[in-house]
Amino acid sequence: MFKVGIITASDKGYKKEREDLSGKVINDMITQKGYKVEKYVVLPDEEDIIYKEIVYMADELGVDLILTTGGTGFSPRDVTPEATRKAIDRFAPGVSEAIRYYSLQITPRAMLSRGISGIRNKTLIINLPGSPKAVRESLEYIIDSVHHGLEIMTGKTRECAR
Ligand code: MTE
Repeated sequence: MFKVGIITASDKGYKKEREDLSGKVINDMITQKGYKVEKYVVLPDEEDIIYKEIVYMADELGVDLILTTGGTGFSPRDVTPEATRKAIDRFAPGVSEAIRYYSLQITPRAMLSRGISGIRNKTLIINLPGSPKAVRESLEYIIDSVHHGLEIMTGKTRECAR
């Protein structure tokens, strides 16, 4: 059973000016997948705060997967990719490319998500866009391949089926 951390980056969500529906969508989908949500937190759009939470979840909680939602756009307060870039050792660009590839078939505005994916030690971090609709669309598309990637990253399986 893989352990998951969920981070919603949203000034409005943090100030409780808006309900965090996106984080709830992730929580429901991940739980249905049979993963264990170790921690779910709503943070302001502050790079250092998001970075420190990613590091805590990966290094202290030892989660296998961190899913962030929000703060991937062009707004000046959108800094989730920058916080993630600081936390990772290795990029995993294919995951974010897959998210945008699939999302672009739904809306050309998917090009406006700057989300990245990468690995910190043995934790995979994936930036999802901020809307509940975008989260559902993105996660549905990537989750099975991400599961296989987690099995390889954690040594549960040797390699991709040829
Ligand atoms: N991806 C999917 N699958 N569906 C969407 O509706 N919205 C796009 C994009 N990615 C969208 C999507 C829009 S309009 C924006 S502005 C960017 O996500 C960034 O969103 P964020 O700043 O909330 O992360």
